[in-house]
Amino acid sequence: MSASDREVDKVSMAQSQKPDAISSLRAIPMFASVSTEALESIASLLIERSFPKHKTIVEEGAPGDYMYIIVEGRVKVTKLSGDGREKILELLDVGDFFGEMSLFDEAPRSASVKGLSDVRILALARKDFLRLLARSPDLALSVIQELTRRLRQVDEQASSLSFQRVKERTMGLLVRLAREEQGQEGRRRTPVLTHQQIADMIGTSRETVTRAIKGLKSDGWLEQDGKHYLVPAED
Ligand code: CMP
Repeated sequence: MSASDREVDKVSMAQSQKPDAISSLRAIPMFASVSTEALESIASLLIERSFPKHKTIVEEGAPGDYMYIIVEGRVKVTKLSGDGREKILELLDVGDFFGEMSLFDEAPRSASVKGLSDVRILALARKDFLRLLARSPDLALSVIQELTRRLRQVDEQASSLSFQRVKERTMGLLVRLAREEQGQEGRRRTPVLTHQQIADMIGTSRETVTRAIKGLKSDGWLEQDGKHYLVPAED
């Protein structure tokens, strides 16, 4: 069995349910401006699957035949570095998609994607995804916009790795992750993050992150709110 078959097999072994209704598809940013008619045909192509926490949904290096949209839970996108350490490229949440790159260029999976919680996703096969993009310019544009956002972020990370110290990199990461979260009184909450996860995202050690977090708290820049951090709102 090829690696690609295994990925598909993981999907088919997982619990299967009927796709969500049109209204819940409409709540997914990627489909926000797609016509109801197009959504109806998309709904019939999506396969809903569930994965337990920590399960690898996509494996770096394997061939890929599906892309996925998250409807419940959170995942991390990771890449193994030369010395075998796991670098977290991104955390993805409800409404985000992944697994599209291999469908576009037919190269192996660029990264692994694993559940940080139990995860429910909608899977879309390559031929259906490409056909939908060709038929729906709105859908194609929203995918391009998200890929542009990711490229900008990679650019930012590359420059912050070379020019900024760990404290600034930690601040930049926390502000970015808090951007889409709730806030009050001039502060925003980050998602729940361990020091190790922060270290894996900014390319340093857990101990260094612990020191940076301690410094940011004593500077008054960072506050703790249970398992979340509170950072200054940007606006
Ligand atoms: P694919 O290469 O098919 O499988 C791994 C997926 O991880 C990839 O498609 C993207 O969907 C996702 N991915 C890879 N790099 C990043 C990144 N820097 N930010 C967000 N998602 C990514």
